[in-house]
Amino acid sequence: MLKIKRTSLIKVLFSNCLVLYVEIHALPCYNNTKYVFRGVITMSAITAKEIRDKFLNFFQKKDHLLIENASIIPKNDPTLLFINSGMAPIKRFFTGEERPKSPRLCNIQPCIRTIDIDEIGDKHHLTSFQMLGSWSINDYFKEKAIALAYEFLTDYLKIPKDKLYATVFSGDSDMGLDEDIEAKEYWEKAGMPKEHIVSCGKDDNFWGPTSETGPCGPCTEVFYDTGKGKEYVLGGEFDTKERYIEIWNAGVFMQLNKNSDGTYSRLEFTSVDTGAGLERLAMVLNGYESVYETDMLAPIKEKIENSIQEKKGEIGLSQRQIRILTDHLRTISLILSEKVKPSNEGRGYIPRKLIRKCIMIVMTSRLNDFNFDEIIEFVVDKYSELYPNFKECKKLILSEFAKESCQFKKVLEKGLEILNEIKSKTSKISGEQAFELVTTYGVPFDIIMDYASNSGMKVDEGEFKDKLERHKEISKKSDVNSQNEKNIDLEKFNIFPPTIFKGYEDNETKASILNILVNGDKQTDNLKIGDKLAVILDCTCMYAESGGQVADEGFIINGENKIRIYDVKKTKKDVFVHLGILESGDGNLKLKEKVLVKIDTERRKMLANNHSAVHLLQSALREIFGKDIHQCGSKVEQKILRFDFNYDKNIEENDLFRIEKTVNAYIRENIEQKTEIKSL
Ligand code: ALA
Repeated sequence: MLKIKRTSLIKVLFSNCLVLYVEIHALPCYNNTKYVFRGVITMSAITAKEIRDKFLNFFQKKDHLLIENASIIPKNDPTLLFINSGMAPIKRFFTGEERPKSPRLCNIQPCIRTIDIDEIGDKHHLTSFQMLGSWSINDYFKEKAIALAYEFLTDYLKIPKDKLYATVFSGDSDMGLDEDIEAKEYWEKAGMPKEHIVSCGKDDNFWGPTSETGPCGPCTEVFYDTGKGKEYVLGGEFDTKERYIEIWNAGVFMQLNKNSDGTYSRLEFTSVDTGAGLERLAMVLNGYESVYETDMLAPIKEKIENSIQEKKGEIGLSQRQIRILTDHLRTISLILSEKVKPSNEGRGYIPRKLIRKCIMIVMTSRLNDFNFDEIIEFVVDKYSELYPNFKECKKLILSEFAKESCQFKKVLEKGLEILNEIKSKTSKISGEQAFELVTTYGVPFDIIMDYASNSGMKVDEGEFKDKLERHKEISKKSDVNSQNEKNIDLEKFNIFPPTIFKGYEDNETKASILNILVNGDKQTDNLKIGDKLAVILDCTCMYAESGGQVADEGFIINGENKIRIYDVKKTKKDVFVHLGILESGDGNLKLKEKVLVKIDTERRKMLANNHSAVHLLQSALREIFGKDIHQCGSKVEQKILRFDFNYDKNIEENDLFRIEKTVNAYIRENIEQKTEIKSL
């Protein structure tokens, strides 16, 4: 009997760069003539950190300067909500507006891309990711960029050559760009087989700009062949959904600048901009099915699954839903850590939308007590090293999430009640029902669509859109101010001297006509009854809309001529534009002629009362909810007032009662009214 037992661990490089550890045991064998070797294979995945290090090492060795990544919040760039690619924070290098420290650069940039938001839950779309980026600014161009890309993928990452495909730009006559024959040649020269090079149009192979305007160009992308699905044959369909996964935009060949009028002009010099999504690269290199198996996302996904399982004994969510929660909670944490508050517009709308989606998923799955805090804390701890903000902002992230989800849960509870009732009767949500849910109950339309698609229902989108359009039309018509604002170019009146305002002291005043425009822009002193006029005077007692208070109404009178003023606007240079209609008279009104300006005093009194009430309301709110309350906007009209203020919690019935009581108490104090004009 053989007595030897040797175990050794050998490291082999497997085809697509997976490192396999093979344990070799020389086992005792009853047949003296043979050894039996048994291999125990343990696969060791390549980690995200290893890929990051390899990428940066490679490009630094090739003389690229490692630059610091930027925050996801763009600086001095109002065209972008979030940094959406590695080149976005450095785009001024490409236009020549700024000079980089080195013509060759590289880094790893966190990015947020919300255009794919509805794709989240599939294998490889994400709302946030890490972009591996390398750049040549007015330095090397196509040939070297392609050679570097191929070297990195095949020599450094050891991806088998037969697994790689490249797409190149097929040209576009409107843009004046020919097919990128050079890129094709350079790929072949680098070693890529001809039949692995695919020509694609501008939808696939023209990149940029990052927003409406800026540097852009044709690009070449690298794809990995998963071997699943339809194989590409020269000239046939190139299936980028299943079979070929994009792993690297290996070169945007920057040469054009998109202008604000939609035209393109040539950049002064050419550059190369590359970008690869780290999560996707990790997925492909490890042979995973989806990005959610990578070490960046799998632990979060597992944490979510375990958390549900512990409570319910089963997961109760679809794989897609778990992936969405995984993706969204990571992105939400990243955005909130940059102190962006959920809101209804602009940047803040993205975290709001993502949080709502998470709440929707757990509530429709009857997991109302799902412990989001536990998962967010986990995400924050996991990413603290990569995102230094995370540690110090943990509390903020948790509290912003809690605030937003608490508000939305209330909306959704009512919304789901209604939706469930509709579902019990029919499989179609009518446009009317959707409209009611959106406008009366505040349920976002995409949430209604989500509910419908998860419950096998249909929404009458056409009817909903019609109703919404009609609703907008009506609101527009009733808002005379905004309508007028659109029709009139106020600032052209700045050629006149600022109007002297006497409306704090007088309800009527004499004034001289400086200008009258009829129906927009015609100047004449022969007016007709019914003409719409814009009148400029040297002085006035009519208040022009400002500070949320609507303008005075009244009359401008000269003998029989009576102009009914329905609105007054003020230009940036304090020229008052009286908008009115000639109601009576012969229409003979000359420049410099004297007129009498009279305001509707009853109406003014009501406006003044409502204006005072805004201040009383603000004072009451500060008394009840604390001194942090401040005004965020207001509207003072004749019969109503609106006051916007900062307050995160719900205002309950008894709060309303207290506010009302406090304001009424102020009013009953009968404080004496005085008018004093003070300097600003
Ligand atoms: N800026 C290019 C992209 O994001 C590299 O795909």
